[in-house]
Parts: sequence; C-alpha cells; structure tokens
Amino acid sequence: MYVRPAAAAAAAFLGFTLTLLGGTASYAVAGPDSPTTARAAFGGPVVYAHRGASAYAPENTLESIDLAMQLGFDWVENDVQRTRDGELVVIHDDTLARTTDVEQVFPGRQPWRVKDFTAAEIARLDAGSWFGEEYGGARVPTLREYLHRVQRNQQRLLLEIKKPELYPGIEEQTLAVLEDAGWLDERHVTRRLVVQSFSADSVRIVHGLRPDLVTAFLGTPAVADLPRYAQFTDRINPWHTTISADWVAAVHGLLGAHGKAMEVDTWIVDDAATARKVQSMGVDGIITNAPDVVREAVGGY
Ligand code: G3P
Ligand code: CA
Repeated sequence: MYVRPAAAAAAAFLGFTLTLLGGTASYAVAGPDSPTTARAAFGGPVVYAHRGASAYAPENTLESIDLAMQLGFDWVENDVQRTRDGELVVIHDDTLARTTDVEQVFPGRQPWRVKDFTAAEIARLDAGSWFGEEYGGARVPTLREYLHRVQRNQQRLLLEIKKPELYPGIEEQTLAVLEDAGWLDERHVTRRLVVQSFSADSVRIVHGLRPDLVTAFLGTPAVADLPRYAQFTDRINPWHTTISADWVAAVHGLLGAHGKAMEVDTWIVDDAATARKVQSMGVDGIITNAPDVVREAVGGY
C-alpha cells in the first residue's frame, strides 16, 4: 500500500472504532488541518497526470505518459477496457470514435465499440492524429504495453477500471495482467499502484481479491454513507465541483480498509484558481490534464 507516513502513523495511533449505520466504522482523530495530513508532510497535494499529460498529448497513449515524465510527474492515471478477443487496452470512451481514426479504417462498424473490435484491429488505429498531426501514428496501448512503459519511466499508476459492467470479470483479469507484469510485488503495491473505479462493486471485488492493494472509489458519497465505503476502500475520489471542506474533513476522519486515514484525490482540475480552492479544502491529491499548471499553483509532486 502507498502509505503517506505521517498521516498513516498518526491515524494508527489516534484511531478508534465506532458503530454507525449498522456497521463498524473506524474513525481517525486527525482532521484536514492536522499536521499529520499528506499536504503538511510533503508540502502540497500529489499531482496525477490524468490520462497522461492529456492537455498536451493524446490521452491514454504512451506519448502522453512519456510527456508527463518529461514534465516531472511520476503519477499517471489511465482507463482500462477489454477488446472482443479479451485483451485489456487503455482507452477512456467505450467507443473508438472520438480518439482514433476507426471510422475511416472500419467504416460500417458503428458504433465502433471497444468490445466489438479485436486487439489486432485496434492496433491498426491511429490514436494520435485527432489530437495533433505531430502525434500521428500513436496507438491505443494494451495494458501490458502501458505497464511496461510506466515501469520503464519509473512512474506510478492510478489505474481506473472503466465501465466494468460491460466487461464481466475484468477485475480478476486486470489483477492477472498486473501480476504477470510484476506490478503486484511488495514494492509496487506499497508505493506505485492504486486501483480505482466509479463502480463500488468493482472496487469491492478488487479489494476482496487483493486486500493488500490500495483502492479508491470515484464519486461523492453522502457523509452518512462514507463508513460503508471505508470497509473496502482507502480513498474517495470526487469530481471537484461536488465537494466542500467539511466533506473532505469527513472523509479524512475515517479509517479506510487498511486502517489508515482515508484520503481524497479530486478531479479534473486544470486551472490555478480551482487548484488553490481544492487545496484549501484539504484534498490529498489533484488529478489533472495539465499537471504543470496545478504544480505551479499549489506545489505538490
Ligand atoms: O481519475 C478520475 C477521472 O478519470 C474520472 O473521470 O471520465 O475522466 O475517467 P474520467
Ligand atoms: Ca479515468
């Protein structure tokens, strides 16, 4: 698990247990202004390059994570889906239309769903020209290719299981690919990998299969519901427009699935004013298409 040492130690020391909403929920004494938070420990929120440095390079390509590395960012976020023949690929939309030239290469195959194309067909597509001609020839990477590049770049990965309802068993398959690529050893699990999803069921499945992994739920549950999430996840990652300082404090006040104070990484923040606003709310991380803009505004790493 990726542990932010001061926050983790304090949470373990100060934590206690309450029974709420029919379940057992662990609470931490440390709040958002406590010197035990990640912000205080590291001088700023963690900055995640969303789909790579996707303001400047085509999203979810190897080029976008290389650029994030060149800009000095080691945390990158991606989206994982599955092809017709069972290969995991890195792409956000559940169709290929917006971010590739699929309509030209495979006319008549609309609506061009990822799950209706084989990995070999997807490998033929140009995933860069739509963004800029200098990126012509960029590909939709397989998860295996992507992990290899993140590893080569010595980066870290916030992996999103995208639309798991379309891909039964994708959680187990994703873990198998991670294992095969050497991403489930102690070094990766403790420092280099977080798995997230908008699907609470999916996060719960990942936690059940690999309880040592750090996970995050994408969304903004009501404060009253947070203890239920704390039973199977470590982080709650909300859209920035949906949060307040009180809500962030409520998340920080809970101990998550690993007995550490829960954290909040918010998205998608691409301008300095919003970055400063969510920093003032006490978030631990900011997920952004423009990581350089966020770092300039609030520090972080
Ligand atoms: O990492 C958070 C963010 O990726 C969630 O939204 O639609 O960009 O996957 P989306
Ligand atoms: Ca995503």
